[in-house]
Amino acid sequence: MGRWIIVSNRLPFSYDAKQKILKPSSGGLVTAIRGIKSREKTLWVGAVPEEVPMTKVRSLKDPNGIKYDGPKISNEMYEKYYNGFSNDVLWPMLHYESNRIKYKAENYEAYKKVNQEFAKFLIDKIKDDDIVWIHDFHLFLLPKLLKQKKKNVKVGFFLHVPWPSSETYRQLTPRREILNALLHADLIGFHDYSYLRHFVNTVYHFLGINSTQMEIRSAFNKTELGVFPVSIDTDDFHKKSMSKKTVKEIEKYALDGEMKKILGVDRLDYTKGIDLKLEAFEQFLIDYPEFVGKVQFIQVAVPSRTDVPEYAELKRSIESKVGEINGKFGTLNYSPVKYIFNSVSTHELMALYRTSHVLFVASKRDGMNLVCLEYVAAQKGLDPGVVLLSEFAGAISTLSHAISINPFNINATSKRIYQAMTMTQNERLERYQIMYDYLKNYNASNWAESFIAALKMHQVEKKVEVKKIASVEDVKKITKKYKDRPTVLFLDYDGTLAPIVDDPESAIIDQKIYQIVKDLSLKPMTQVVIVSGRGEAFLKKQFKGINCYHAYEHGALFFDYQTKKLRNLISSNKDKWYFKAIDIIRDYTKRTPGSFFEKKNYAITWHHRNTTNDYGEFQARKLAQDLSATFSHLPVSVIVGKKVVEIKAIEANKGRFAEWFMERYGSHAEFSLAVGDDRTDEDLFEVVNKFGATVKVGEFDKTHAGYYVEEQSKVAPLLKSLF
Ligand code: UDP
Ligand code: G6P
Repeated sequence: MGRWIIVSNRLPFSYDAKQKILKPSSGGLVTAIRGIKSREKTLWVGAVPEEVPMTKVRSLKDPNGIKYDGPKISNEMYEKYYNGFSNDVLWPMLHYESNRIKYKAENYEAYKKVNQEFAKFLIDKIKDDDIVWIHDFHLFLLPKLLKQKKKNVKVGFFLHVPWPSSETYRQLTPRREILNALLHADLIGFHDYSYLRHFVNTVYHFLGINSTQMEIRSAFNKTELGVFPVSIDTDDFHKKSMSKKTVKEIEKYALDGEMKKILGVDRLDYTKGIDLKLEAFEQFLIDYPEFVGKVQFIQVAVPSRTDVPEYAELKRSIESKVGEINGKFGTLNYSPVKYIFNSVSTHELMALYRTSHVLFVASKRDGMNLVCLEYVAAQKGLDPGVVLLSEFAGAISTLSHAISINPFNINATSKRIYQAMTMTQNERLERYQIMYDYLKNYNASNWAESFIAALKMHQVEKKVEVKKIASVEDVKKITKKYKDRPTVLFLDYDGTLAPIVDDPESAIIDQKIYQIVKDLSLKPMTQVVIVSGRGEAFLKKQFKGINCYHAYEHGALFFDYQTKKLRNLISSNKDKWYFKAIDIIRDYTKRTPGSFFEKKNYAITWHHRNTTNDYGEFQARKLAQDLSATFSHLPVSVIVGKKVVEIKAIEANKGRFAEWFMERYGSHAEFSLAVGDDRTDEDLFEVVNKFGATVKVGEFDKTHAGYYVEEQSKVAPLLKSLF
């Protein structure tokens, strides 16, 4: 049985260089992972700052037997990776704060380097039966770096923050590289279904992979997706809250007095909406003056990322607002807002949780928010407090009986504060009981176990591994045995010999490709066959002057350049579906601006490459559904390809054509190679795999091909190296 290897940027402590000791660090990630009471052997790997002695880290004693270790990262590199890219680019982007993003290429370089340092460190340490669980946005590139060297190790990734809409993600400079790296993970987990949904959309928009919300299939992996809302060690929080030490803290600070308390506990971060809380509290004192002098808002603001200028600026503006409210409503013996810019000890925090009437969470965006879960766990059974919870925090999906607020609506929030302050004990108890029961039954260990169980269940698909062709040498490896032996080359047109462009009529092959195809067809013992969905007129024009065979409309029609004859390879009658299908497609074309359709002999193709992405894609799926349902009893196939939907005679199939061709023209061939990029080429690959090699153009989709090149521009060098 292997170990759990937990990997995160931060270990649960920071180093106090003056006192030369390790001190606990704060934040939801640390709380969540610390809450896991695993019986498995666990190693927690995190970045170790330059000045921290490794022996201190490795000799740390943990009540759950966790061992700690990690790569040493130089301070200069860490600053660029952590503040420069993670906190100045990823954090604001992931929290919809695009205007705060400050991208610098050198910081991204450092981010890559630190991810590589983690990979190097782990590759030396992990064994095949270990389970690697990577946490959070600091390590987006790590799944790929690990899988490249350790393909048998199960790698899971959990995101502790939101995944934003693809429109926000669009702004990220290395947007494709990051997604590509992340998809090497076997399982990606999110707190909330909405984050998963946005992730799937993002992958579609930037990598062109259409997937279900269960899994994403790329050329290199099958990545499962799942929602695993994080939780806390409920019993531990409850016990601590009821402990003598907590009671002492309550007495020490006289927290059990007459004054009612509204509590806020957050890292001082612009995502937490502390500014909105102050505004709403001020409004509450204006709207309900009877509470002036009777209620105090205590805000604990834990110092965080203090080297980032945005955070320093935030601190200044919050402190000025606190001063303003206290000036306006305060008296000699009353400060409406108590503001603490410091961390508090565990028992101080429990004392605050236990004695506050309301917990106030107003995050503008928050992956989960553990403070509200801790507050519920810490309540006294008979007289519990009330949770005011922002609808922008992931916890809103799990804490069903909190009072939900839109923190941007100051007047409504003021009313919600009033509702919370005046709620009857019965209602408070009812709400609390449901939330507490939930946390009793689903704690941090359950969270971790369900993630790891899903990761263990992940089955690597048994498929022919798709190898990347990265150099001429790679091609030579495939073809050298067959050099100057009888060869058949099946070449697709759009997306393979010609790039995909907006107007299909202008997808013309360039002179270089034309010459390569010509030279190949002149090579002794080489037969070149262009196998395309295109019709006769277009292809004949493109390959004028080249002695090669043509298969039009996915092999419905065949042109023999030697006899100059066109043969029809379809025997079924198209009248039963063809004209009705045109009517259906015409109707969709009218309703979808920018779309158009082509009539071929045995196929009708609807193009939506010029429509707005989402709408075109939606209409394509709907059209395919309509066509399939209408003609389910007839010999037709409906195919959803790259920005096209096509209905065609079932016999018009590139695979079927390849079989036919090999029997009549290629029986003496000793080698075949098929190159294609789209859904219809998969039929070709399945057949050619039986006797030759197959190459897919494009790196992200699942394919039957044995090899792939990254993009269309790599096809020319590939074909050239066949000489
Ligand atoms: N916390 C802390 N020190 C403090 C106050 C709070 O470590 O002085 C803890 C708090 O108990 C909670 C975590 O910090 O476990 C904050 O997690 P949350 O998910 O609410 O927000 P995040 O910091 O992850 O954005
Ligand atoms: C959030 C992030 C964590 C991070 C924590 C504290 O919870 O999701 O990854 O550890 O904030 O932030 P810090 O930058 O201090 O690690």
